[in-house]
Amino acid sequence: TPMENLKHFLLALCAATAAGLVSIIFVFRWVLYFKEGLAWDGGLAEFNWHPVLIVTGFIFLQGIAIIVYRLPWTWQCSKLMMKFIHAGLNLLAFVFAVIAMVAVFDFHNAANIPNMYSLHSWLGLTAVILYGLQLVLGVGMYLIPVTPASWRAAFMPLHVYSGLLLFTSVIAVALMGITEKLIFGLKDPKYKDSPPEAIFVNVLGVLLVLFGGLILWIATRTSWKRPSDQILHSLHTNGGGEDNSKVASALSQLPDGSDAYGAGDARKRSNKSDEQAN
Ligand code: HEM
Ligand code: HEM
Repeated sequence: TPMENLKHFLLALCAATAAGLVSIIFVFRWVLYFKEGLAWDGGLAEFNWHPVLIVTGFIFLQGIAIIVYRLPWTWQCSKLMMKFIHAGLNLLAFVFAVIAMVAVFDFHNAANIPNMYSLHSWLGLTAVILYGLQLVLGVGMYLIPVTPASWRAAFMPLHVYSGLLLFTSVIAVALMGITEKLIFGLKDPKYKDSPPEAIFVNVLGVLLVLFGGLILWIATRTSWKRPSDQILHSLHTNGGGEDNSKVASALSQLPDGSDAYGAGDARKRSNKSDEQAN
């Protein structure tokens, strides 16, 4: 039923938010309590900005950005407004990621450590660059009103696929980074002797996987998608219900599957493809 559907959504959302916030607490406790703290001094305290900015920005903020369209209480907001929020959060996540890159390169150069030797660094830098590209293409395609609606619709499955692939890759890259750091950083006792820091940071890795899994689940349920503007519009005209149960029942009337990421269910029914349609 629509009510159950909403309940399941809220459950998944709370679990994801909790896993994300606890990950943030864990990364701060790691660098502040187990490691050297935070500073911009060319030393290890500067390196520590690298994991902190990645977890808070590139992982948590990106995850939230990906699911903002799915929050039922935003469905009364215009699609354009939600695009600004989605794009803005993704831009903020990108800024965090870039500063995280500056921190680690600056630390390596100050300490005479070679750059770009690890698989972690290859995949990581590639992910940041492609994320920047996704951001530029997203703005060009969906925010600037010159792109033809047919292009927008055609590009949407690719936008969603590459967005989810990037998000997943970023979490995988973070897990590699965590493992490297534990192996490099733990000297006496070593990683293989399971000191408290090792156990604690292993748990951080598990939490990041949990967060990623929950965000991917939320972002791939067709029954939790934002209803097309046309369905929302007919809801308002057929009795003006704005309460959640109306929205939820609109949800249950959505055509299933066929149009999963369809940039334009509205377009299929009427050829008037207005700027809000996707
Ligand atoms: C180094 C990217 C997450 C630990 C690097 C470098 C890049 C990078 C490009 C190379 C810097 C250089 O060559 O001077 C990323 C990206 C991440 C990420 C895109 C987002 C997922 C993490 C996390 C940790 C971490 C969460 C955990 C501590 C390290 C370590 C190095 C490093 C220890 C130095 C060794 C090496 O170059 O592989 N990272 N990183 N990274 N990163 Fe990350
Ligand atoms: C949808 C990722 C930037 C516009 C999505 C989805 C993902 C995603 C995963 C699917 C969400 C869902 O099905 O609920 C990303 C990433 C970005 C980015 C990782 C940045 C690197 C942008 C930008 C815009 C944009 C800058 C410009 C406004 C859209 C639109 C949708 C969407 C219009 C469709 C929403 C819907 O189905 O109702 N994005 N996106 N994206 N994105 Fe992005």
